[in-house]
Amino acid sequence: MGDARTLKPVRDASVALVVTSPPYPMIAMWDECFRLMDTTITAELIEEHPSKAFEAMHKQLDAVWRECARVIQPGGFVCINIGDATRSTASAGFALYPNHARIIAAMLALGFTALPDILWRKPSNAPNKFMGSGMLPAGAYVTYEHEYILIFRKGLKRDFVSTAEKARRQASAFFWEERNAWFSDLWQSITGIKQTGDFALRRERTAAFPLEIPYRLISMYSVQGDVVLDPFAGTNTTAMAAAACARSSLGFEIDEAAADDFAAMMQASVPELNSRNHQRLEQHAQFVTKRQAEGKVLKHHNDDLGCAVMTSQERQLMLWRIARCERLGSVLRVHHAPLGPQTDFHLD
Ligand SMILES: C[S@@+](CC[C@H](N)C(=O)[O-])C[C@H]1O[C@@H](n2cnc3c(N)ncnc32)[C@H](O)[C@@H]1O
Repeated sequence: MGDARTLKPVRDASVALVVTSPPYPMIAMWDECFRLMDTTITAELIEEHPSKAFEAMHKQLDAVWRECARVIQPGGFVCINIGDATRSTASAGFALYPNHARIIAAMLALGFTALPDILWRKPSNAPNKFMGSGMLPAGAYVTYEHEYILIFRKGLKRDFVSTAEKARRQASAFFWEERNAWFSDLWQSITGIKQTGDFALRRERTAAFPLEIPYRLISMYSVQGDVVLDPFAGTNTTAMAAAACARSSLGFEIDEAAADDFAAMMQASVPELNSRNHQRLEQHAQFVTKRQAEGKVLKHHNDDLGCAVMTSQERQLMLWRIARCERLGSVLRVHHAPLGPQTDFHLD
């Protein structure tokens, strides 16, 4: 709980990975949110001086990126899901507001290293998705059906020095075929977390991203036991993904109602989080069967999971199941089975 522009309780260089999705500048649903952070961002400013409004909104996000630079450890990563905005205003007409480019500029200015980003394709089913002058040229606009996942590193590549660190890294390996899919620059067919009733409404209100987004990013850019931070936590999708992946997490959220009942929401999501880990094993089994049917030999074996694997790097790969959650004041402690460590989720 709290304002991400000052991540005060978080110690310098104590976070391995940030996975987040901020309010999107110049997308109407977030106007009020930016006005609350800076009262000069009024409806009039947006209509009459959209470029100034765009910049003023990003200034608020800049403060958060500055804090991320402080709390992230050397070699740590920041992954930011952001969409560009299209908007019609009285003074500029229909225009694109390139949020992703503005954030890359801010992160480079803070000294982060930019890494290849991911295009998340989100096809729209809306019947009116084509904008502008229909079938007549020169007044129609390309439909935007993608968002970005920007990836940054602080300093040089992370070193894994001690034996324990090296072991944690080995246990956090992913399958060869997962590497091939996850490290593609185009993600599509990403499905959402299945929730009903009040929780589903809350996810809609915060424009929550699907569990699969933070699940993959956490698996790709951190190791088990690391601390993952989401400064714009919303419904805590990042914290849930972190729990599934046996990482600890911290979240900040300005809207108390959005983060309300995190413990209950987490509890309700445990079957889905566990099924995501089971699904990985099942999909790997299918991959092995297919490969063997093609007469291809998998040379290595993962004894803990009891399956063949493509490379020696996957031999120590471990997967977890959330056994139970326990509330300890402002911390939600998640117990993993059969081999997982305890991980803590700080609620304020
Ligand atoms: C795009 S949503 C994040 C959704 C989240 N990824 C999820 O899965 O639910 C952005 C969130 O940032 C929150 N927010 C806006 N300004 C904030 C600030 N200054 N500090 C912390 N949270 C803020 C909003 O209330 C909203 O819940």
